[in-house]
Amino acid sequence: MARLTWHGHSCFLLETDEGARIIIDPWLDENPSADVKAADIGELDFILVTHGHWDHFADAIPLAKRTGATLASSFEIVSFVQSQGVENAHPMSIGGGYTFSFGYAKMTPALHGGEVAGDDEGKFTTMPGGWWLELNGGKRVYHAGDTALLTDMKLLEGMVDVALLPIGDNFTMGPRDAIRAVDFIKPGTVIPMHYNTFDVIKQDPHAFARAVGSKAKVVVLEPGGTFEF
Ligand code: NI
Ligand code: MN
Repeated sequence: MARLTWHGHSCFLLETDEGARIIIDPWLDENPSADVKAADIGELDFILVTHGHWDHFADAIPLAKRTGATLASSFEIVSFVQSQGVENAHPMSIGGGYTFSFGYAKMTPALHGGEVAGDDEGKFTTMPGGWWLELNGGKRVYHAGDTALLTDMKLLEGMVDVALLPIGDNFTMGPRDAIRAVDFIKPGTVIPMHYNTFDVIKQDPHAFARAVGSKAKVVVLEPGGTFEF
């Protein structure tokens, strides 16, 4: 079994059938909804970053330095982390994929902001993205990152087993648009994310689940909760 553990907000630890450990959008130490601190995360093989906002990126550099995991993200974010002393990093861009040891990982479009947190001179402004992963053995995971609803999501129709979708509204899609995203993507399972961390993104994930209805299975996790697939 592969396993996804939600650590609050948009941070997931993905453990593959083969035992690879991949963290997506690590924001733990300052995350009021996280169940663990970065120091509690054990060894990692990969760190995937959708975009440079603090709430997706804050612990990426320290985790990369401690674990030696390969940090994959946009060319500009990778250039920034390399300037901060991260040795193992893999630059990519939107629409491009690469076959890593755990499977194929492709950066998907996201409509959102491009700041790189910690880049005080603003040298590394970049495009936000998401990740579409096809793990060795064929299981497919889509982490949408922070994004508005995009008709481009229709291109993922039938290609996603587990979709991790923001529902918080205000900074990203809200529940109504996330339901439309489910219509576009037709994933087997949806796990909502990016809600209830701050007052302005308060949502009821169970109401979202009821509204999705039979379109997909909705798994509402508590921070620290796990979904196996
Ligand atoms: Ni963001
Ligand atoms: Mn965010």
